[in-house]
Amino acid sequence: MPNERHLVLVGIMGSGKTATGRRLADRLGRSFVDTDALIEAEVALTVAELFRHRGEPAFREIERRVVADALRAEERAVIATGGGAVLDAESRALMSERGTVVWLDPPILRIVARLDDDGSRPLLDGLPVAERLAQLRDERAHLYETVAHTRVAIDAGVDAVADAVASAIETLEAA
Ligand code: S3P
Repeated sequence: MPNERHLVLVGIMGSGKTATGRRLADRLGRSFVDTDALIEAEVALTVAELFRHRGEPAFREIERRVVADALRAEERAVIATGGGAVLDAESRALMSERGTVVWLDPPILRIVARLDDDGSRPLLDGLPVAERLAQLRDERAHLYETVAHTRVAIDAGVDAVADAVASAIETLEAA
């Protein structure tokens, strides 16, 4: 596994970044960092409240800084990023430079089955969920593809996805 780099998970919302990241951090004995959770702790608002009260641009600005701080940290961690963190070019550059970046890209239907309708994801408001997720994936696929060193697209639960990420990284390192 990559000792000198952060392990960075990217992908659309519901792709399993947080659950998979936690599992991998446990296995690797690393700290787990969730950039959405760091943002929420900093502003003492949920992501949904932050979008509502201050708007998406304010959220993105904080996200850019939180992602940069996480990537610049010396201690190598497993970092789960928000689905839109790749929209920022500077964040993408830093991810590629400081991390081994894995794009989690499960089938949309698996994500739909997993997401609960809890109102915590402001970008899902308004459209049928499967349609909106497919749209977000289409819009961002080229960014995930650019930033990621590898893509894990299996239709499986957390343990199997964590196994697939671990072996994808081993393959990368052996290359
Ligand atoms: C977003 C994804 C969310 C969160 C915010 C915006 C996005 O994170 O950062 O609602 O732009 O796709 P998750 O991918 O962890 O749900």
